Amino acid sequence: MKIDYSTPNTPFPTFGYFGPKYFCDREDELHALDLAFHGNIPILLTGIRRLGKTGLLHHFLHHRKKKEVGIFVDLLNVGDMRGLVAKLSEAILRAFPEEKKYKAIWETTQKLRPTISFDEFSGLPQVSLSLSNEKEAERSFTHLLDSLSSRSEQLVLIFDEFQQVIHFEDSHVESVLRSEMQQHPSIHYIFSGSKTHLLSRIFQDSTRPFYGMVQSIYLEKLNASVYQKFIATKFSEAGKSISNELIKEIISWTDGHTYYTQYVCDQLFSGFQKKCKFKRPD
Ligand SMILES: Nc1ncnc2c1ncn2[C@@H]1O[C@H](COP(=O)(O)OP(=O)(O)OP(=O)(O)O)[C@@H](O)[C@H]1O
Ligand SMILES: [Mg+2]
Repeated sequence: MKIDYSTPNTPFPTFGYFGPKYFCDREDELHALDLAFHGNIPILLTGIRRLGKTGLLHHFLHHRKKKEVGIFVDLLNVGDMRGLVAKLSEAILRAFPEEKKYKAIWETTQKLRPTISFDEFSGLPQVSLSLSNEKEAERSFTHLLDSLSSRSEQLVLIFDEFQQVIHFEDSHVESVLRSEMQQHPSIHYIFSGSKTHLLSRIFQDSTRPFYGMVQSIYLEKLNASVYQKFIATKFSEAGKSISNELIKEIISWTDGHTYYTQYVCDQLFSGFQKKCKFKRPD
């Protein structure tokens, strides 16, 4: 998939995905996602907070081929089916640019009478819908998935923060989605989230629709020595010097937690001009 990334203002971003140049390793996880993707098994990606699940999913999308289209649906703060349909429409419009060859999918989305605005920073479409109730939202959801299944591209539909669906009241989202997945096996699905206890309720409770439906991948911390090299390279590329001892100290202090390691490295990087020194607090 061809995606234009913006350049972060630091080599150690603490939010967002800026392309492989700013992303450390995850080769094995990428391979596991690839295998599951080609085996056509829905995937559940879990792991503790801020370790890099969302980043890995974008990294996975970056590696898709031309004919493979990724639709990334972020369910953070979504509380009902109407919100989900709005996010799915938005993700569809982002995945398929407004070009002649994607006219059909734009028309399908436009049947929902969306109000489309464009984010002032990223320029990406944002959608709000005025669906009258959850039943109408459910029908629209089915309609969108049906129209995706008729596309000639290989589609991967990613639901990040999927545990949100547990909070949907009066909704049959799990059974609707499961039946759509069974009717249209050509679409690949990845579910992700960090609230493991809620995700296990969805995927491991034998009375729920998604029981036994997915192959799980649990994200571990980055390999310490690979991360160490990555950090050293980023400093040296910018003409700054940092000792291996200090990098090891940082990774041990953050316990290898990606977000905190990035945060400390960013602080050090922006605060020091040429050489990073470290003084252990008394
Ligand atoms: N492999 C990586 N290399 C470099 N930075 C990374 C990597 N993985 C994650 N990060 C950094 O850590 C930040 C947090 O990662 P991300 O948001 O992907 O974690 P998450 O597991 O999805 O978090 P949450 O549990 O909040 O959803 C990212 O914005 C990115 O800056
Ligand atoms: Mg995330």
